[in-house]
Amino acid sequence: MLRSYRDFKPTSLLTAQLDKLTSDKNSVKIPISNNDKQQFNIHVTILSMGTARIKILENKSTRYELADVLDKEPTKLDITIDKSVKGSVTIQAVNLSSSNSHKVVIRADPLKIEFFNDDLTLVSVINGDQFIFDKDSQSFAFNVEFTDAIKLYGLHHHTVNLELPDTKANNMDPLRLRNSDLAYYEVGSPMAIGIITSGIFLHNAAEQWIDVSYDASSASVRFMVESAALDLFVFTGNTTKDVVRQFVEITGRAHMPQLWTLGYHQCRWSYYTQDDAKEVVAQMDVHDFPMDALWLDIDYTDGYRYFTWNPKNFSDPIEFQANLSSTNRKLVTILDPHIKIDENYPVYANAKGKYFVKWENGSCWPGVSSYLDFLNPDARDYYASWYSYKNFKNSTPTLSGVWNDMNEPSVFDKTTENTMPFEAVHYGNVKHRDIHNIYGFLQTKATHQGLMQRDNGTRRPFVLTRSHFAGSQRYAAMWTGDNTADWPYLRVSYSECMLSNLVGLVFCGADIGGFFNDPEVELVQRWYQAGIWLPFYRGHAQIDTKRREPYLYKDDVQNVIRNALRTRYQHVPVWYTLFYEHTRTGDPVIRPLFYDYPEIMDKDNHILLGSDILARPVMDKGAKSIDITFPGKKDVYWYRIDDGSNTIHRGSETKNFPVDITTSPYFYRGGSIIARKDTIRRSTTDTLNDPFTLHVNLDSANKAVGRLYVDDYTSFDYQNKNLYCYLSMTYLHETGGLLIDQIDGIATNISVNIDHVVINRKISTGDTYSRTEIRTLADGTPLSDFKIVHRLQEEKQVFLKL
Ligand code: GLC
Repeated sequence: MLRSYRDFKPTSLLTAQLDKLTSDKNSVKIPISNNDKQQFNIHVTILSMGTARIKILENKSTRYELADVLDKEPTKLDITIDKSVKGSVTIQAVNLSSSNSHKVVIRADPLKIEFFNDDLTLVSVINGDQFIFDKDSQSFAFNVEFTDAIKLYGLHHHTVNLELPDTKANNMDPLRLRNSDLAYYEVGSPMAIGIITSGIFLHNAAEQWIDVSYDASSASVRFMVESAALDLFVFTGNTTKDVVRQFVEITGRAHMPQLWTLGYHQCRWSYYTQDDAKEVVAQMDVHDFPMDALWLDIDYTDGYRYFTWNPKNFSDPIEFQANLSSTNRKLVTILDPHIKIDENYPVYANAKGKYFVKWENGSCWPGVSSYLDFLNPDARDYYASWYSYKNFKNSTPTLSGVWNDMNEPSVFDKTTENTMPFEAVHYGNVKHRDIHNIYGFLQTKATHQGLMQRDNGTRRPFVLTRSHFAGSQRYAAMWTGDNTADWPYLRVSYSECMLSNLVGLVFCGADIGGFFNDPEVELVQRWYQAGIWLPFYRGHAQIDTKRREPYLYKDDVQNVIRNALRTRYQHVPVWYTLFYEHTRTGDPVIRPLFYDYPEIMDKDNHILLGSDILARPVMDKGAKSIDITFPGKKDVYWYRIDDGSNTIHRGSETKNFPVDITTSPYFYRGGSIIARKDTIRRSTTDTLNDPFTLHVNLDSANKAVGRLYVDDYTSFDYQNKNLYCYLSMTYLHETGGLLIDQIDGIATNISVNIDHVVINRKISTGDTYSRTEIRTLADGTPLSDFKIVHRLQEEKQVFLKL
């Protein structure tokens, strides 16, 4: 039926009955109706940051309204209502801190809802004439037009480029949101004053289809939704950063990851025996490949009964974990939401009749299985309790992370398109139809709760999930699922993870090498090189593929992979600082160029790590050269770092560079200070006490600034007790030194040692730079003897004269 909503021709237009408007200090309700005697209500509120929220519901609505997705109940602002213009009403927030001019205008006949940003520019419109709201089936459809827009981005987790295709013009099916995913758009529109970005988020977890179309003066989307409430958030921008922050304000931020999660993860379906798994770690060490975690896929279990160990192949899990821990590595194990039906399996037996979704059961890895009903808070408590050391027998603190997979949920049944039938019944008599897309989200919520309880909140949970929704970042990292060992999948991993970062899901990665099939050797190397610039970095492979751990390749290939891994490890402090900044602002960790440089779109193979590192890996087979676009104005320098060429490139240029298999270009922005750990170690845990190296990259005015965040790398003390050290570093050219300031945090017990500073400075003629390494202060003191935090406690600000 949703298909018939695609080319809907209205027979009866909707009108708003403004004379029946009712309101209180922060909300407005307006009845709307059409000649077919359909009656519903529009509820309008304006939230902090100027976000508008529109709900459309019948009187006495029985539609399901999501309860778990939003970070917290959004704060509603007080509003003013202006009815002075006949046939319309204008709703505006009073006392909006940034500005008070955002407004929502509702035009009565025919119904039209218009959204204006704080410059009073019209950014988006919902036209009542395309509106369907079916009471019986509870399905609905509506259009949003983005005025003056030229590009639409969003619909997370589709394997398309960042920019959404025109589904109508390209004769495509509408894009489908089923399983996980969130509906979120942002749109850039070139206006006289620059580029404006706005966005929407449909807070609805039912299956939906979305048509995208562009015309000369605007772009629009048509949502066709299976069921549940119409609850739409409209973000008016103005910049991409504003829209991201407005969205994350609603859906929340990730907490800090533990440091080890930013290292390299080695996975395979499956390491079948504990000896095999141990050998992988040993060989990684023999061949000098750093790694932080070894992953166990489904076969470590006893017959796919989660929270158990295979008695034959993992006969001594305690010894296995101790062995892993002695090398400073962590273990991550898979735990899926389907539960094998087996009366002797306590996870099943104790939940039976209470905590499963009601339907005739499905089938997954273990065969016939029941599916936990994570909508039920008691079922979540129950599931969480299985993560305790007592219940998950033979698990130890080395088991530091959990992998939740098959949580769309996946059901081996083609007749229901491999998922749970929509008629299955959840807690509170809610049909699966209404909550389908948050099933995985709810599993990770329960897993996160379980890990918090298990460790008494002393360690930050690490959960990886395949299915996700808006707000999943509060509980989990995600990866792009079962990709294939082929070049387009490598390329699209960049588009997918940059987009996921724009919608709050900052901890994103893709299976390195590609999950299905055997990658050619060139692809493996390119994937290891490109993967270091995505937040989550894991090698993984499907069960039927040839073994492909890095040490199995020839020496020259190993060298390429080893270099990539080492570059990743050197930059872990940058990742860590950016994750911290995300916890404060909601900003993405990795960004497409247009995030900082709205004039540059469609560069899916360029990536910014924060604002200071530009990477443009090679992602095409047989490439002999690649084009690189340098963002910013002409006076912006980009220092090439990867190849020792000491060249500088300037903003607003696109250049062609020769590449061979060892080349994976990246650049530091002039004006930045990059804090790295340059000592080569086996894992991030091994680097904990290592000093930092500061790479100072002077801009055209000989300035540079940077920030560094350090804490205990593990606990929530940074959140609960403010125990962290957040530093700003400024290079002072006139005095030839570095000024270090503590932005905030209580840094007792945190040590920050810097053992050397590298100054990259443009040579006055030509476009090359000099690189000066400094290991002692001007007075001869070795830099490594200088206790920064200690001094900061006495002086609040220290100056390092170099
Ligand atoms: C799914 C996962 C994959 C995993 C496999 C076996 O296909 O996406 O990563 O290896 O299941 O658990």
